Amino acid sequence: MRIAVIGGTGTLGRHVVADLEGRGHRVRALSRGSAEHPVDLRTGAGLPEALAGCAVVVDASNDQSRQAARTLVDGTRRLLEAEAAAGVGHHVCVSVLGCGRVPIGYFRTKVRQEAAVTEGPVPWTIVRAAQFHELVAATLGGPVLPLPRVLLQPVAAADAARAIAEVAERPARRGWVEVAGPEVADARALARTWRSVTGRRALTFPVPLPGRLGRELRAGALTSVRPDHQGSATFTAWLERP
Ligand SMILES: NC(=O)c1ccc[n+]([C@@H]2O[C@H](COP(=O)([O-])OP(=O)(O)OC[C@H]3O[C@@H](n4cnc5c(N)ncnc54)[C@H](OP(=O)(O)O)[C@@H]3O)[C@@H](O)[C@H]2O)c1
Repeated sequence: MRIAVIGGTGTLGRHVVADLEGRGHRVRALSRGSAEHPVDLRTGAGLPEALAGCAVVVDASNDQSRQAARTLVDGTRRLLEAEAAAGVGHHVCVSVLGCGRVPIGYFRTKVRQEAAVTEGPVPWTIVRAAQFHELVAATLGGPVLPLPRVLLQPVAAADAARAIAEVAERPARRGWVEVAGPEVADARALARTWRSVTGRRALTFPVPLPGRLGRELRAGALTSVRPDHQGSATFTAWLERP
């Protein structure tokens, strides 16, 4: 199949592109910086040309700025219109595990992005992924680290990409698929792992997270008891990879 991956140069997207190519698909990696297929979800520029002939679109784009909704919500609507015009038969949206339970701005935007997909004109599947090891490692990399109690079930971006590629190969489910890692761990335990494997030091200190946000994060809102796809690489194994 010809498959377009929006955000095909990102942390997740580059693994999705490689995995789909490994399965024999013809893949177009789309992003603002792409030399071959430049597109901008904020304006819609380049989408009709880049989507021509594609059967499936995987949206692995991201925007964590204050204006994230312009890319993730308005951009999704633009993208779906362009997909409908191009005859795309399956839109795979990458979202975040537990985003509906955790009251922070970015997650609220992801919920609105999901609504744009479910109300949109193209058959869809939404893949809700846990935090990537890459994100956890980058977050723990700071010299001073305030650590609330948060249960996480991080997954390697490569493992999440494999699950997303499998979803993209199948017909649209008009439903949700959960992807998480092999272990649930508290952020403080992950910080200890990071220090012990990397040998680097960081000044960590516990901080309380009051209210509903803290309750949800401590209760495991970002984890899944029975994910549809479970990555195999633990955080330790991922940090120790060659
Ligand atoms: N990071 C995590 O731990 C995590 C966990 C669960 C789910 N997710 C989800 O996974 C998805 C990908 O996240 P990520 O961390 O891999 O993102 P990322 O590394 O920040 O990559 C974002 C990609 O989107 C492209 N992009 C940004 N703005 C764009 C625009 N206006 N038009 C077209 N392309 C644009 C970027 O390329 P250009 O800058 O060249 O345009 C890049 O290829 C997101 O939906 C995120 O919510 C992430």
